[in-house]
Amino acid sequence: MMEIRKIAVIGAGQMGHGIALVSAQAGYDVILNDIKEEFVQGGLKRIEKSLLRSVDKGRIDEETKNETLGRITGTTSLQDLKDADLVIEAIFENARVKKELFTDLDGICGEKCIFASNTSTIPITDLASATGRPERFIGMHFMNPVPVMKLVEVIRGMRTDEETTTTIKEIAEKMGKVPIEVNDSPGFVSNRVLLPMINEAIYCLYEGVGTPEAIDGVMKLGMNHPMGPLALADLIGLDVCLNIMNVLYEGFNDSKYRPCPLLKKMVQAGMLGRKTGKGFYDYGRE
Ligand code: 3HC
Repeated sequence: MMEIRKIAVIGAGQMGHGIALVSAQAGYDVILNDIKEEFVQGGLKRIEKSLLRSVDKGRIDEETKNETLGRITGTTSLQDLKDADLVIEAIFENARVKKELFTDLDGICGEKCIFASNTSTIPITDLASATGRPERFIGMHFMNPVPVMKLVEVIRGMRTDEETTTTIKEIAEKMGKVPIEVNDSPGFVSNRVLLPMINEAIYCLYEGVGTPEAIDGVMKLGMNHPMGPLALADLIGLDVCLNIMNVLYEGFNDSKYRPCPLLKKMVQAGMLGRKTGKGFYDYGRE
């Protein structure tokens, strides 16, 4: 098991800021990186807000909040990641952009540094091929909202080695999560099972089988899901949902994964869920 002291998180958005937060809470030094200063500051603000809420709820004291915040530094420069022991990438889902980023990092970070991607669907083996360290490349898939959800899906690429896998699992446990190891396949396990369910719920709406409230009510009250599939789609983001369905559809060449036309149309209309204030439900101005 490799000793990890400093974790760099790339991408300060919805997932990235949460990953930086749980990393700092686990006692690691954290570097939070994004391409623009305003994105970095936005991520740091959300982290502070989340910690303040924990103080208000009496879960942590002011001192712990300040210590946790003190462990996180923001930067827009990739060069600042040169002495990181682990890099967790959480940028938007685009294989080409992620691969370019990992190629750059490969030239900046030390050769022992582990590269992890929080991708929800892009093959780990493919991303790893953009670096000279496929043995130390792994998928570390956090769930949204990161501070609350227990799972970290750990995805081994074709060449990921045992030491990397063990190290990542121990780090996930230190973060208070439960790591579950799976192999590299489109959608891994989480999104392969979850997204077709969400897509089917959208079909139910599209075909007039039920209202959003009825469809979500059935799944909440009948299956004990904490939120209905349409409300969950709004939380995940409809663009992200469509992207995942497309990856499954193209990855398996199987029509059972075809995205619902209503999902496509809503994405075209810019109705992406909570982040745009409107999806299957109205959220007002966020
Ligand atoms: N950040 C930090 N804490 C949060 C939070 C957030 N964004 N949202 C909720 N919480 C905390 C609250 O503070 C509260 O903590 P407390 O009980 O200790 O005070 C606790 O979570 C419960 O929150 P609420 O009472 O406000 O709301 P709910 O009980 O309705 O829970 C939920 C909200 C946790 C989001 C719950 O509805 C849920 O689990 N939904 C399903 C989420 C899910 O399925 N996520 C996976 C998405 S798929 C994915 O991420 C993969 C990707 O690749 C697409």
